[in-house]
Amino acid sequence: MYLNNIVEAIGNTPLVKLNTVAAGIPGTILVKVEYFNPGNSVKDRMAVRMIEDAEKAGLLQPGGTIIEGTSGNTGMGLALAAIAKGYKCIFTMSDKQSKEKQDILKAVGAEVIVCPVDVAPDDPRSYYSVARKLNAEIPNSFYPNQYDNLSNTAAHYEATGPEIWQQTEGRITHFAAGVGTGGTICGTAKYLKEQNPNLVAVGLDTYGSVFKKYKETGIFDENEIYPYKTEGIGEDILPKNVNFDLIDLFIKVSDRDAAVMTRRLAKEEGLFVGWSCGSAVYGALEYAREHLTADDTMVIILPDHGTRYLGKIYNDDWMREQGWL
Ligand SMILES: Cc1ncc(COP(=O)(O)O)c(C=O)c1O
Repeated sequence: MYLNNIVEAIGNTPLVKLNTVAAGIPGTILVKVEYFNPGNSVKDRMAVRMIEDAEKAGLLQPGGTIIEGTSGNTGMGLALAAIAKGYKCIFTMSDKQSKEKQDILKAVGAEVIVCPVDVAPDDPRSYYSVARKLNAEIPNSFYPNQYDNLSNTAAHYEATGPEIWQQTEGRITHFAAGVGTGGTICGTAKYLKEQNPNLVAVGLDTYGSVFKKYKETGIFDENEIYPYKTEGIGEDILPKNVNFDLIDLFIKVSDRDAAVMTRRLAKEEGLFVGWSCGSAVYGALEYAREHLTADDTMVIILPDHGTRYLGKIYNDDWMREQGWL
């Protein structure tokens, strides 16, 4: 038995119980460990789906170029799909992303363009704008736009949700995930809420992001936007993949609390995961402590792998410089 290429290895990631980190918290706390995907992140799932849907819609022709603004993980998924299917990749990335993420994308054959993070999304220098410009200039290029492309949500509705439902044998009562493009939480929660209308979906947000206030007040408040360090979650835009009706509430987690929890996941649970995993677990447990009962089952998504953060949260000197150790 073998797979025809590495893309076929995407999905069916393990669900694992949290032990020490969730001690004393009512209910069963499970994490879905998405670094088991071949690109080491949850984003493999939607990357392939965006390419397949584009092919079906005639938006991507043989030999074409895939251009995307990505914090790294989506780029990895796209690059793997591009290798399997014979496309070129150009990725734009903000300069706050770890150097490891750039090098990993280059390793799988992509061209990487680094853009400044401290400019507005509509500034021509932003990684969103540069991706759009290249898409307009390069013939036979496709710009997946993971923020607004609903193939992103569909991938999780069709795979991540059903996997969790089956793995918990229908016992899941609470679902928690960090929110970036929103595809993971909204696709998964849509499926799970169809099976169990009482399911609660908890979105994890960062300080410096617009989501929580928008959910609670309907106001897009630019004062909520300021630089933060956690990678992959929180936004200064409202992506189309974020369906606020499917997310019951948001909890904000600080860069520090997320970093410290991520290191605990590695040391105490053997889960060598990425920074936003600490955000997800820290925020989800804060909710669980107050609201779960002994009969409840919560599933938390752990989006990516620790190797991408070796120069940051897993580096003691860097942690000391932040004053977090
Ligand atoms: C590390 C990490 N965590 C969380 C997320 C958020 O997932 P989503 O974009 O599906 O909301 C991303 C997405 O880029 C990510 O790269």
